[in-house]
Amino acid sequence: QTRKIAVIVGSLRKESLNRKAALALARLAPPGVELEIVEIGDLPLYDEDIEAAGVPGPWARFRDEIKASDAVLFVTPEYNRSVPGALKNAIDVGSRPYGASAFAGKPAAVMSLSQGAIGGFGANHHLRQSLVFLGMPVLQQPEAYVGGAGALFGANGDITDDGTRDFFRTFIEAFAAWMEQNSEPQVASGR
Ligand code: FNR
Repeated sequence: QTRKIAVIVGSLRKESLNRKAALALARLAPPGVELEIVEIGDLPLYDEDIEAAGVPGPWARFRDEIKASDAVLFVTPEYNRSVPGALKNAIDVGSRPYGASAFAGKPAAVMSLSQGAIGGFGANHHLRQSLVFLGMPVLQQPEAYVGGAGALFGANGDITDDGTRDFFRTFIEAFAAWMEQNSEPQVASGR
């Protein structure tokens, strides 16, 4: 049975390096594991008044796509030493209504990717704080702070450096294993 990992990319721009990284990870995933980007650019800003008045289509679409996935992978840039607002908004949208979070219990992993040297460490760890609160078991190792990302991808989007490609493969394989270890049993036990 194919396992589905929803991928949330923290950048909205077309030529996003984080989107390229997400697509590269999708190509390196082990057999039986599919990565699919769940878009966040069309989500209205979270507002409890809007929730009460009627759930907007993009919110419902986003929540359904997360619920239908076996795990969630975040691939994000760092904005001002934290997560981009669009990504935080997506987390807020998916976490509600109260008691019906789409994220609850789903295994998660975080890759942060920056053109700078620190590899988005600040964003990576701020994001982990929210994921802990959402009850998501988050992959701890290997950590993925990818710096110098401007030089990683060729014209076709492939990773040009062997060491980086090996690291991406190791990371997505570790997350696939983590997803299996932390998945809820599909069949209830007899007792
Ligand atoms: C940035 N950038 C950035 N980089 C970083 O390493 N630490 C930071 O705190 C920030 N802050 C920041 C704020 C804002 C508003 C922007 C637009 C950018 C640079 C950022 O890492 C770079 O633009 C990446 O290329 C963005 O990722 P994508 O869009 O290529 O995926």
